Amino acid sequence: MARGARPGRDGEIAGEARGAPVVALDGPGSSGKSTVGAMAAARLGFRFCDSGLFYRAATWLALQRRVPLDDGPALAALVPDLRLEADEAGRYTRVLAAGREVTGLVHVPEIDRAVSEVSRQPELRTALLPRQRELALGGGIVVAGRDIGTVVLPDADLKIYLDASLAERARRRGLERGIAAHDAESADARRTLDELRARDATDSGRETAPLRVAPDAVVIRTDGFTLEQAVDAVVALIRALPQAGGAAGGGPAGSSVPQ
Ligand code: DC
Repeated sequence: MARGARPGRDGEIAGEARGAPVVALDGPGSSGKSTVGAMAAARLGFRFCDSGLFYRAATWLALQRRVPLDDGPALAALVPDLRLEADEAGRYTRVLAAGREVTGLVHVPEIDRAVSEVSRQPELRTALLPRQRELALGGGIVVAGRDIGTVVLPDADLKIYLDASLAERARRRGLERGIAAHDAESADARRTLDELRARDATDSGRETAPLRVAPDAVVIRTDGFTLEQAVDAVVALIRALPQAGGAAGGGPAGSSVPQ
């Protein structure tokens, strides 16, 4: 992957200046980024950051404080009150808003419905950029999100785009939320699919940092994959990086890992 030192981008580290790789892991909702990314990072002794937690916690705080969800400057003003915390393994999977841990409160339908509107606001996105970039300092990290490879860390050593069909992602989300697989035709399952489709449309259609496959990303389609197979695919790509001791780069740009 051709990358060079690019001084001047605030908060971003020049490629050659760091040792351990920075991995951007993007993809749509319920593509498995958080679970797969955290498990792959744990296997490799890497840190892990779920950047969606910033947007979810901003949404939670906005709802608490009755900040209009389309008021970009007011949303950006919430950012100093947001903090990601790492566990002992270096996984930034806990989020605090105004000093209160809200990790358990941000994966609920109310936040799911509001978070796309909030994350569309350019002022909020700009305010969160240095917060995400500072986490990547030093490398040895997998950062999951929507725009990590395209905007937040365009010089990442490896960019992976984790994808799955809408039906498969809705099935996984349904399972997370307690809707059994055989209930795919139930009203709950249909609502889950419709909400995911709507969020896909907002995330991909927004003007600032839309969800896109970076031109130099490796696409992994996980329909039909077990969780272990998805983790194996991500781990293999990271291990193949020269910085990780591999013989080759992260695979041909835009390639798909076969099932
Ligand atoms: O990955 P997730 O479902 O927890 O993300 C929640 C929302 O946050 C999602 O609708 C889009 C937004 N998001 C974003 O815009 N950029 C990121 N880097 C991560 C998440």
